[in-house]
Amino acid sequence: MENNGQVTDALQWGYSLANVSEIMTPCLDAAGVKSLLEIGSYAGELTEVLLEWAEGSGATVATVEPLPPDRLRDLVRRRPELELIEDTGVGALAGLSELPDAIVIDGDHNYYTLTQELDKIAEMAGDQALPLLLFHDVGWPHERRDTYYAPDRVPESERQPLAKDCTIAPGNPGLSDGGLPYEYAAAFEGGPKNGVLTAIEDFMKRNEGLELATVPVFFGMGMLWPKSAPWADEVRELIAPYNRNPVMERAEANRVAHLVRGHVDAATIREQQAKIARYEELLGRLLSSSSMGVAERLTKLRQRGNPVFTRQEIQDLLDQE
Ligand SMILES: C[S@@+](CC[C@H](N)C(=O)[O-])C[C@H]1O[C@@H](n2cnc3c(N)ncnc32)[C@H](O)[C@@H]1O
Repeated sequence: MENNGQVTDALQWGYSLANVSEIMTPCLDAAGVKSLLEIGSYAGELTEVLLEWAEGSGATVATVEPLPPDRLRDLVRRRPELELIEDTGVGALAGLSELPDAIVIDGDHNYYTLTQELDKIAEMAGDQALPLLLFHDVGWPHERRDTYYAPDRVPESERQPLAKDCTIAPGNPGLSDGGLPYEYAAAFEGGPKNGVLTAIEDFMKRNEGLELATVPVFFGMGMLWPKSAPWADEVRELIAPYNRNPVMERAEANRVAHLVRGHVDAATIREQQAKIARYEELLGRLLSSSSMGVAERLTKLRQRGNPVFTRQEIQDLLDQE
């Protein structure tokens, strides 16, 4: 399944897992997936790619989103075969009569929420093998740092110390002066019970017989499967060239560095524009004041026809595009 060669939001974050669909969908085929649940759909970019894949495979696709944006509702109207569950991941799982064959987990990127979702899946599986699990954000910034869409849904005792309206940058485990902006993020990276990859690793300690691959692009896609599944070898072989691929890792580090730099530059430009607006407003007031006329005449007299400034000069400056 191709993604038309498009980065879904070129020049922006590249937040959608649709960007790695060519790696994801052959694994879904190999695992014989006939029912798939996506947790966290946002605008439905991955959802739409999955629906196209499902047309060929005959699979059903359901997606979970507590706050469906208009673009997702449009997708539901255009693709009536899509089931939209307006709930959190844990709430949606609790309402299912059985587990789907594959679950893509890309909801709230914090240890507590992901652990709740994973433990619910394990509880529902019981003695049966776990489904194929796919994750977004197993790389920087979420790998070892929680962020929260809705901190109120996480008990305070289970939450990392919170930073609000903060910016973070790679290589800085605290908060940075400029970088990727988050409404709510853990004030520190690392340590126990912090981040998406930490939650997956801890889940693997509680549940034996699982294998994890991580594809280090577009913030990192993780894939977790039971080693005992009849399709395990095929999935491992398909994902092997991308698993912890060092070239992809370098390309991602480079992409993220540029993304962060773009945010820092944009913030600087916004500050400079605000400063210029203040200068323009002051110059406008000066121009329209009668004292300015007096000052202009005075400087003409004192500088014998070579005034330090003229009002026309100021007006020309203000008229510049
Ligand atoms: C990164 S976006 C998903 C992107 C999408 N999967 C894609 O690849 O195109 C994460 C979404 O998860 C939703 N979300 C937040 N908390 C959630 C939760 N507890 N359960 C499910 N979804 C959640 C957010 O509203 C947001 O729209």
